[in-house]
Amino acid sequence: MPVPSHPTRRALLFGAVGSVALLGAGTRGPLRTGTAPRPVIPVADTAVPLDAAPVTVDLGSRTVRTWAYGDRAPGPEIRVTAGGTVSARLRNGLPQETTVHWHGVRIDPAMDGAPGLSQVPVASGDTFDYRFTAPDPGTFFYHSHVGTQLDRGMYGVLVVEDPAEPLGYDAEWTVVLDDWLDGTGTDPDTELGTIRDTPRPARTLRSRLLGGTAGHVDYPHYLINGRTPQAPEEFTDSPGRRIRLRLVNAGADTAFRVGLGDHRLTVTHTDGFPVLPVTVDALLIGMGERYDVLVTLADGVFPLVAEAEGKDARAFAVVRTSGGDAPDPSVSVPELDRRLLTLADLVADPSVDPGDAPARAVDLVLGRGRNGTGWTLGTAAARDVTPLRVPVSVGERVRLSFTNATRMWHPVHLHGHTFQVRGEEGRGPRKDTVIVRPRERVTVDVLAENPGEWMLHCHNLYHSELGMMATLGYGDTPPAAPDSSMGGMSGTG
Ligand code: C2O
Ligand code: CU
Repeated sequence: MPVPSHPTRRALLFGAVGSVALLGAGTRGPLRTGTAPRPVIPVADTAVPLDAAPVTVDLGSRTVRTWAYGDRAPGPEIRVTAGGTVSARLRNGLPQETTVHWHGVRIDPAMDGAPGLSQVPVASGDTFDYRFTAPDPGTFFYHSHVGTQLDRGMYGVLVVEDPAEPLGYDAEWTVVLDDWLDGTGTDPDTELGTIRDTPRPARTLRSRLLGGTAGHVDYPHYLINGRTPQAPEEFTDSPGRRIRLRLVNAGADTAFRVGLGDHRLTVTHTDGFPVLPVTVDALLIGMGERYDVLVTLADGVFPLVAEAEGKDARAFAVVRTSGGDAPDPSVSVPELDRRLLTLADLVADPSVDPGDAPARAVDLVLGRGRNGTGWTLGTAAARDVTPLRVPVSVGERVRLSFTNATRMWHPVHLHGHTFQVRGEEGRGPRKDTVIVRPRERVTVDVLAENPGEWMLHCHNLYHSELGMMATLGYGDTPPAAPDSSMGGMSGTG
């Protein structure tokens, strides 16, 4: 077997040229209007401050009390060159413990932020320095991995730039999608209690695209870059310019269907890794997934819409290349119902395809607990063992199959690795989060080349909190806190 090109050739060739820059989330490029420009703070030798604290944030049309990294959500956008070092100082000003997880990054396990597994959670009032190499270029994000904190404002984007960027474009915009309820008369812990205690809610949210139940929570707000549709983010540039959109779903319980009025989208990356480009009108993004798309701007003012799939509501932003009124947030966007990207469309760029021939196959079932309330991720034989530890060996190629035995879709995420989705003839995209619909079976290959204890879980926050969690463990790194309970994302017992 040829040695798979897992650390991409580019990363190996151009590694070690690190620099970190801290930008406001949102646009990067010449022009920005609509929201106040935020300063660019070069922090080459200092740590990016991640001050987790209770705060009032402005969603545009209203303010809410929540927890965030700084005074807004998303938190600071962190940028680093592939091979460079990310250095961030977490100060925990929350009334409970926390961690930061660097979602999608092939990271040192001690920096992965998995509470009770790879990190002892940072106590209230304490500080922790995250410092790690970001080996692969791409669009990643960071978020709290304790309790339901992710469904507050505890997330931000990490962009790892390619020093030999092969894509040609004129500017790039970060587009972060989120579902929001914190500080609106409820909070995520209250919602978790409701979901735990009422497995069959009165009103079921359904989606044909998602193959059944769409989600548990009918959120009062859906946001793009922390803004409601009533006071949207406005992206401004000139007609004819080519823009790279970095789309991130930081939501807890919502898949978004994204389209841009009067434009087609050329998909170039999934979960950070390049694919053979495919041009579509819309794409569906599950929690934890990222997509990069290229778009050539037309002349006018256009709606950028992210439908909350199955929830009859949307997130909304404006793309402007000329004067004139912004479209109404409820404007119809026919692109949303045209050609939708599917998993089968996606084929990894040959530079990141790790080949095939797994040494070990593990069949996992996404299920409900025997009492009908919790959610499980385990083998058919040991479904209720939560979390199940899947043992593998260092250097082994492991084939994981996920069978969904529930009536709801699940975005399944593996820490510390990207896997090769097995599509037709084995060729699919490289991803770290993949949607598995009801009755579907999705197969992925993982190369066990990053020894440690790694979480494998549904990225529906309420499912992982209620038990849809396993671990993949190998090498001799012992778990950080072997005694602490790790029932869900929380690790707080
Ligand atoms: Cu983005 Cu374990 O998660
Ligand atoms: Cu799930």
